[in-house]
Amino acid sequence: MSEYYQANQEQQQYAQQTIEQPQGHPKPILAIRDVTKSYHQGTREIQVLNSISADIFKGEAIALVGPSGSGKSSLLHILGMLDKADSGKVYLNGQDCTNFNDAERTAIRKSDIGFVYQFHQLLPEFSALENVVIPQLINGHSQKEAMARAKVILEFLGLQERLGHRPNAMSGGEQQRVAIARAIANEPTLLLADEPTGNLDPNTAERVFQSLIGLIRQTGLAAIIATHNLELASRMDRVLQMQEGKLYSYIPQQQQGTGEL
Ligand SMILES: Nc1ncnc2c1ncn2[C@@H]1O[C@H](COP(=O)(O)OP(=O)(O)OP(=O)(O)O)[C@@H](O)[C@H]1O
Ligand SMILES: [Mg+2]
Repeated sequence: MSEYYQANQEQQQYAQQTIEQPQGHPKPILAIRDVTKSYHQGTREIQVLNSISADIFKGEAIALVGPSGSGKSSLLHILGMLDKADSGKVYLNGQDCTNFNDAERTAIRKSDIGFVYQFHQLLPEFSALENVVIPQLINGHSQKEAMARAKVILEFLGLQERLGHRPNAMSGGEQQRVAIARAIANEPTLLLADEPTGNLDPNTAERVFQSLIGLIRQTGLAAIIATHNLELASRMDRVLQMQEGKLYSYIPQQQQGTGEL
């Protein structure tokens, strides 16, 4: 663990340089600086995130791992502008989002962030196609553009035969792939997924995972995927591990020296 921590510190220093003086270094899509979060339960305070820092770059597929209760969802909710940190900063595409008001948070969530939940949370009364079209209409795209893009994404995910199906007429894996399509419909730069395969059998989880990785490779977006599946985590570019309020970054063994999936 100590060497992971070391790597994380080096990476943090590097990232701080990139924010203050880019000078040819790639800028992180997401920069997290000293983020803390506590919850209060009666008189008890639970510190879930204890001064966490990290950088996420374009095209990176990152696994977020850690024991149940270690703070993965808490962190994703802060990064996804669904919750606020107690202190620290979150930069998205170089923009400091820390003091954004609700309207600004909603706007950046719509345009720049895709979120996939463990349970798909699709609109039950709408078809797969409509579930992917609607967020685009809300974001100001024309019906024609939205339909065309929704079809391309759903076809890429192997769902061309399911466009007219409502969520309850699809399998769990199909529903989850529609949820992924919906999350990237507005071309976000950052995709956050909270245990997207946690509710699926191993074969279906593998199929959904492949779809996610395929999309990340195709679009070049940055993705953070919380998972309890260490085998899937080991096939991503980098692992962020939550442990007792801290975040450690390491390259999985499988990736070392190859840089490929
Ligand atoms: N709204 C809340 N109020 C009080 N405590 C909370 C709240 N949300 C989360 N917690 C606590 O914060 C800790 C971290 O929770 P979180 O959901 O982030 O963990 P997690 O790593 O996502 O766990 P899991 O793997 O089970 O999904 C837990 O101890 C949880 O009970
Ligand atoms: Mg969770």
